[in-house]
Amino acid sequence: MITAQMKLAIVIGSVRQGRFGPTVANLFVSQARQHEEFEVDVIDLADFDFPGSMVASTDVDKFARRIAAADGIAIVTPEYNHSYPGPLKMAIDSIGKPWRAKPVALVSYGGKSGGLRSVEPLRVVFAEVHAMTIRDTVSFHGVWDKFDDNGDPRDPESANAAAQVVLD
Ligand SMILES: Cc1cc2nc3c(=O)[nH]c(=O)nc-3n(C[C@H](O)[C@H](O)[C@H](O)COP(=O)(O)O)c2cc1C
Repeated sequence: MITAQMKLAIVIGSVRQGRFGPTVANLFVSQARQHEEFEVDVIDLADFDFPGSMVASTDVDKFARRIAAADGIAIVTPEYNHSYPGPLKMAIDSIGKPWRAKPVALVSYGGKSGGLRSVEPLRVVFAEVHAMTIRDTVSFHGVWDKFDDNGDPRDPESANAAAQVVLD
């Protein structure tokens, strides 16, 4: 029996204009919301400004508080030049302790490799901040063909099944 919901923060890791990230994130968010064990907080990095100088800022504090409040985190990341986006690294580096001992799920998308070349370096980075990435991933290769014009997955069964494995 479930007594209390776990707090799951879902971080949208791409911030560029015209990004595909929210479409992929929506799928995972909707699956997480259907999963009765989770209370979901969607954190869109586009709403934050992480100063390159890493000085304290209101946005860094706000981000730190939301990650600190989470029991687990899911990162939705594209692949840029065989790795993950710079703004995502800024976000990870800008806070320290809130990542500690948290499970981190990785949801990736991109061209041929489905963003998996951003997933693997993220595992190394999260190990350094004492977080634990989980083995299973959700990954979309050729992502622009995987969703229709309404942003719905063309193959909802397999996309939702992959998301549920990660959420479980
Ligand atoms: C700067 C840049 C570099 C990219 N490099 C790769 C890459 O190395 N491998 C890949 O599979 N896709 C690559 N892509 C394709 C992206 O993964 C794809 O366009 C994805 O939608 C980007 O996420 P976004 O739309 O949320 O920004 C790249 C896209 C951009 C903008």
